[in-house]
Amino acid sequence: MSTRKLLVALGATLALSASTAVAQSPGLGKNITEADIKAWDIAVLPDGSNLPPGSGTVAQGAAIYKQQCALCHGEGGVKPAPGYAPMVGLQKWDRMDAPKTITYYEFATTIFDQVRRGMPYMSPRTLNDDQVYAVTAYLLAINKLIGEGDVMDAKSLPKVKMPNAGKFIIRFPDRI
Ligand code: HEC
Repeated sequence: MSTRKLLVALGATLALSASTAVAQSPGLGKNITEADIKAWDIAVLPDGSNLPPGSGTVAQGAAIYKQQCALCHGEGGVKPAPGYAPMVGLQKWDRMDAPKTITYYEFATTIFDQVRRGMPYMSPRTLNDDQVYAVTAYLLAINKLIGEGDVMDAKSLPKVKMPNAGKFIIRFPDRI
C-alpha cells in the first residue's frame, strides 16, 4: 500500500472510531433547559428589553438601601465608606477627571442591571426583582431624576431621562 493510500485508510479508520466514540459517550452532563438559560440571561438593554415583571417605589427602595447598601455607599448615597462610590453625583461633566457616579450612565436601565447582577457586593443576586426596581427608584430619586412618588417598572424605567442621554459618542460605529 502506498503511503498516501495508507494515510487515507488510517484517516477513515480514525473518523469511524471518532463517531463511535461520540455514540458511546460516557453520558456525563445533561442538556441545558430554557429555564436554566433564563436564570443567566439577565442583561437589560437600554430600551428596556429583558426587564423583568415587577415594580418598586422610592419609599420601598429607601428601606432596602438603608439596610443593605448604606454601609458601603453612605447614608442617603453621600459620604460613602473609604474607597466606595457615592450614589449621588454631579449632573454636569465639564472636565475629564470630574467624579463620575451613576448619574453619568447614559441609561437608567444600566442602574437596574448593575444592581441586579452585582449588588449588594457581598451577596449579589439576593434581591428579588421588585427590590431591585425599588432600590433603582430610590437611587434615581435621590439624584432628582424622578419624583418621590414615582414607581419604577419595565415601562417607566426606560423612559427616565438621564442627564447624559444622547451625549455619548460611539467610537467605532461600524462595529455595531
Ligand atoms: C460591601 C460593600 C457594598 C455594599 C453593601 C453594596 N455595594 Fe454597591 N458597590 C460596591 C463596590 C465595591 C462597587 C464597585 C465594584 C463594581 O462595580 O462591581 C459597587 C458599585 C455599585 C454601583 C455602581 C457605581 C458606579 O458609580 O458605577 C451601584 C449602582 C451600586 N454599587 C449599588 C448598590 C446598591 C443598590 C446596594 C444595596 C442593595 C449596594 N450597592 C451595596 C460595594 C458595595
